[in-house]
Amino acid sequence: MRFRLSNIFIIFPFIFTIFIFVKFKNSSTNFDEKESQVISIPNECVCESKKTGKLYNFCYNLPENKQKRGKRFSCKFLDFWERFEESKSVDIKTDQIPNPVFVTAFSSGFISNAVRMISSIRKLGISMKIVIYDLGLTPDDNNILKQACNIEIRKFDFSIFPESMKELREYRWKPIVIAECLADFGSIWYLDTSVVLEKSNISHVYDLINCQKENIERLPLLPSFQRDIREKTEKHEDGWNKDIWLRNLKECRKSSYLLHGYSGHGILSVTNPEVYNWIPSNFEELRKEKAKMYDAGFVYAVNTKTIMLDIMKWYVLCALENSCMGPENSSLICSFENDDRFKKYAECHRYDQSIINLLLANANFYDRRYYVSEIVDFFHIKRNGNLNVNNEEMQCI
Ligand SMILES: *[C@@H]1O[C@H](CO)[C@@H](O)[C@H](O)[C@H]1NC(C)=O
Ligand SMILES: *[C@@H]1O[C@H](CO)[C@@H](O)[C@H](O)[C@H]1NC(C)=O
Repeated sequence: MRFRLSNIFIIFPFIFTIFIFVKFKNSSTNFDEKESQVISIPNECVCESKKTGKLYNFCYNLPENKQKRGKRFSCKFLDFWERFEESKSVDIKTDQIPNPVFVTAFSSGFISNAVRMISSIRKLGISMKIVIYDLGLTPDDNNILKQACNIEIRKFDFSIFPESMKELREYRWKPIVIAECLADFGSIWYLDTSVVLEKSNISHVYDLINCQKENIERLPLLPSFQRDIREKTEKHEDGWNKDIWLRNLKECRKSSYLLHGYSGHGILSVTNPEVYNWIPSNFEELRKEKAKMYDAGFVYAVNTKTIMLDIMKWYVLCALENSCMGPENSSLICSFENDDRFKKYAECHRYDQSIINLLLANANFYDRRYYVSEIVDFFHIKRNGNLNVNNEEMQCI
């Protein structure tokens, strides 16, 4: 057999390519896992896009155990969903997170609270845009809002959604508003009209997400039982605890969808069990005190691939499905047996708030430390109406 030196130049690149390919396969990243999942969507979970021909998995899979999955959401919502999935996402490691816009949504009747909320932002000297979704405002309300500085009013288009969207008390509009603004702006603060902002410098909250830019060696995640002990022994958040904040920066495991205000009970106790047909969970973990429910009406979120695909997709699809976000006969009124706010279903339901907390808990080790900021020095929640509002305080200063 004749051997020519030139063969080396043919064979070597070939072998090298295989080597690189194998290396790449072995260092399988999250992204690879996502891709292989897409290839193997079970038949009963597939939805096909009429627009792009792309196949989508419309069954929610429990992150901890992908074999555990919910019923397929209706494929008729694919058209609506697809543009969010295709929206430009932020890679926190490499991209600058865009400056957040403020987003709110309300109907007539909440106008004075809205003025209070908007004023609280402006009085701090923050002039960033505030996007307001009109869920049913009167001309008078609109005239009041016209006095505000740097706002954009968007009429919420109920006509493209199932009838249940009009049931404002089921809050199905909230995931839609949040998804739309994440897609449009990349990073947002969503605020219900009950929020009062109290601090202009919120960099301590952003730091909890921006820490991902630094290539820190993270300590391993504590096992569940140690985190149970931590939950029982550490004082509940109050102001801004610098020690816990520094630990969180070091750990750098917080979700890029952060809640802030504790609602006073668990998730399992206030979630209609019908929901688990769509979004299964791990009840052993969900009934523990780590799985605390936080207000869905005050959020800082960034449009990362993970947030869009693992959280927002299911939050939005659930909102569009009648028996997911608002199962029949759901009630806001809870009866906590023996004042136990965690272990047992209390015959009540929190609609959007149940769903987002369930999704965040499932995706974050059933431990609120990974989906809440644990900082409460920059806002308070005031649900009662406020009659003494001054419309002029909505001006920029
Ligand atoms: C905001 O607060 C941080 C401390 O959390 C401080 O280091 C920073 O200088 C402050 N930024 C401004 C603009 O005041
Ligand atoms: C809801 O309540 C009505 C009236 O009490 C009852 O007839 C119906 O069966 C209930 N539906 C479900 C799904 O429990």
